[in-house]
Amino acid sequence: MTDASTATQRIVQLRAELDGHNYRYHVLDQPSIPDAEYDRLFRELQALESQYPQLVTPESPTQRVGAEALSAFGEVRHEIPMLSLGNAFEEEDLRAFDRSVQAGLGLKGGDLFGAGVEVEYSCEPKLDGLAVSLRYENGQLVRGATRGDGSTGEDISSNVRTIRNVPLKLQGEGWPQILEVRGEVFMPKAGFEELNARQAESAGKTFANPRNAAAGSLRQLDPKITASRPLEFCCYGVGQVSGEISSTQVGMLEQLKAWGIPISRELKLAKGVQACLDYYRDIGERRMALAYDIDGVVFKVNNIEDQQQLGFRARTPHWAIANKFPAQEELTELLDVEFQVGRTGAVTPVARLKPVKVAGVIVANATLHNMDEVARLGLMIGDTVIIRRAGDVIPQVMQVVLERRPADAKPVLIPESCPVCGSHVERTQLVKRSKGKETFSEGSVYRCVGRLACGAQLKQAIIHFVSRRAMDIEGLGDKTIEQLVDEALITSPADLYTLAYEQIINLEGFAEVSSNKLLQAIADSKKPTLARFIYALGIPDVGEETAKVLGRSLASLERVQQALPEVLTYLPDVGLEVAHEIHSFFADSHNQQVIAALLSSDECGLQLQEQGELSAEFSASATLAGMLDKLNIPSVGPGGAQKLADKFVSLDAVLAADWLDMRQALPEKQANAVREFFAVTANAERARAIEAQLKAFGMHWHSEKKVVEGLPLAGQTWVLTGSLEIMSRDIAKEKLESLGAKVAGSVSAKTSCVVAGPGAGSKLAKASELGVRVIDEAQFVLALAGYGL
Ligand code: IVH
Repeated sequence: MTDASTATQRIVQLRAELDGHNYRYHVLDQPSIPDAEYDRLFRELQALESQYPQLVTPESPTQRVGAEALSAFGEVRHEIPMLSLGNAFEEEDLRAFDRSVQAGLGLKGGDLFGAGVEVEYSCEPKLDGLAVSLRYENGQLVRGATRGDGSTGEDISSNVRTIRNVPLKLQGEGWPQILEVRGEVFMPKAGFEELNARQAESAGKTFANPRNAAAGSLRQLDPKITASRPLEFCCYGVGQVSGEISSTQVGMLEQLKAWGIPISRELKLAKGVQACLDYYRDIGERRMALAYDIDGVVFKVNNIEDQQQLGFRARTPHWAIANKFPAQEELTELLDVEFQVGRTGAVTPVARLKPVKVAGVIVANATLHNMDEVARLGLMIGDTVIIRRAGDVIPQVMQVVLERRPADAKPVLIPESCPVCGSHVERTQLVKRSKGKETFSEGSVYRCVGRLACGAQLKQAIIHFVSRRAMDIEGLGDKTIEQLVDEALITSPADLYTLAYEQIINLEGFAEVSSNKLLQAIADSKKPTLARFIYALGIPDVGEETAKVLGRSLASLERVQQALPEVLTYLPDVGLEVAHEIHSFFADSHNQQVIAALLSSDECGLQLQEQGELSAEFSASATLAGMLDKLNIPSVGPGGAQKLADKFVSLDAVLAADWLDMRQALPEKQANAVREFFAVTANAERARAIEAQLKAFGMHWHSEKKVVEGLPLAGQTWVLTGSLEIMSRDIAKEKLESLGAKVAGSVSAKTSCVVAGPGAGSKLAKASELGVRVIDEAQFVLALAGYGL
């Protein structure tokens, strides 16, 4: 037993603390501790107060429901107070509640010879939002109010009217003249994610969770803001009502539903406590898949007369209880921040935490993603932090509890040198581009510049290189790779191919058979496709899909290695950032050496498969307009680039154009911008280099003159394939274009006609498969003659 003076001190302290949290939660919508911690403090106070009833005062947080209303809204008095619910955390709590209900109703519990009387309960999810009262008079919505302190709330009528699922007029008939419905306003998870993304885009305030977002959105003085937020209402009961609606809770909710009031789709009737426990388990299992956050379920005695007989305690009814789920958020201490080095050298902060149980699992580490996240959280070592672990999701540090920051808290500093290899750690600014133009910074990453000289990066690089979707070398587990790197048996992926039998058999876990097997697996991996090889190199941001696109489109490692960033952006889904990553990867001399060693017949002897001609799609995608757009000429968008291409047809002509010519293509401002841009030698050279590379890759600008109305083949797309004997391909193309047709490199359902010479292959096959008209060269010449060509 605590002695009375210690208890008094603690009570005063707890009340002050709880009052502070109440204010932050209910008034500011900025709670600084998780609900579970609040509940614990609350229960500690309750326990002390029941031990010393003489110390209970009317102002104690245990005697109130929430904090005062914000003065900026009008006040609303609740005729019938809006109360709260008692909590059950364990199965036993719920059984105790059921027993007290049985006792209160004078029912006999079950004995050995009879099933006893089972109470019927309505079961509903406990939505995690804000309690709201909606008052309908003669079927019209006349007022909306928050709970406030339970007896006085805020008038938020204009705001609730903006909530899409709140009926402004009741449907059907027979509703009481006065009907006050009560329920929860909440924000569905998807809407919350969208809202936060939108807020981040416009540099607005982001919310820690859907509940805070709902609170922040509902209590806006400007209802237009509320209207723009994805709020929903769900009714779970009534307040003041003239007349009776139904004799049961479920019947009442069903009736309200018939009048157009939204109620929970999960509403169920359960007979007896066991059925309630089943409901609790079922919803708990589906909790993550629900469209909204819930923090438990609510059980209410179904019979309304029974509810009245059971009555209320100070702040909670005797006839209902909230059965809470284990908390997904907990408090713990940040002991340290360590730095991990990933495959691409990214140095990532990891939180080392004082172990704490969150939703049933002990959590001791959490990733902090990057230093921007550390800055956003304002994290210091020694801080008390809120950890969240929802379902199977990896634990996350949500927030710092500033009030609990110790005096000796230390800042989190990015190391200047790599914790693994000691190389310099470099900061790269990430730039977000919108519509191809640089706009604003998207944060930064820190990278160890050690590349494969860094043990951590080398290990990860090898693990990736041998993985199933890359070089697919079986029998090389992570542990073996670690050993190979630690014992300096390999310093690059190329060294894998020169490993000797004696070196392998000395590794942990290897014997004769397994060593030979590994050697065989390494030998078997020597003929990868180009795409696999590119993927295996582990270029930052180049996943399997991008590797496939690179392999398929450029069809030679040489072209991939040489490709300028702008040229790479012709590939589907390759943006300028990824293009730069690819380009700088191949520009790096160490990478060049490793690749050369891998491909050299004297060393590793890899032979890449599936190399060949540049793909037709790639050639077809290369347009002058596209290239001009990629140059990012200030104030010239895709439309302007197209106009330039239409007018000048070749890059040379664009570069040679004088001001008058330019003005014929573009308005004055853009015309000036283009001339200024190309007046900078580096820009003109860059454009020429891109064009030269595309040509070296075997590509030519397509004439992009707009379809000229009135020309005989306007709007048609033709494909030339196989070898043409009567006229050259270039001439055939020119003639078709002069008739208004477009000449494409590949066949699709949109192709109008295919001219197939001898040796035509896949394009011809595709044309007949799609039912596209095919003619031979003789027919083609005749057709041209028909147009006087
Ligand atoms: S019944 C007298 N039913 O939980 C009974 N409340 O801790 C009053 N809540 O203030 C509440 N879902 O904001 C009830 N299905 C539900 C609920 C629910 C969420 C909230 C409500 C209430 C708080 C009580």
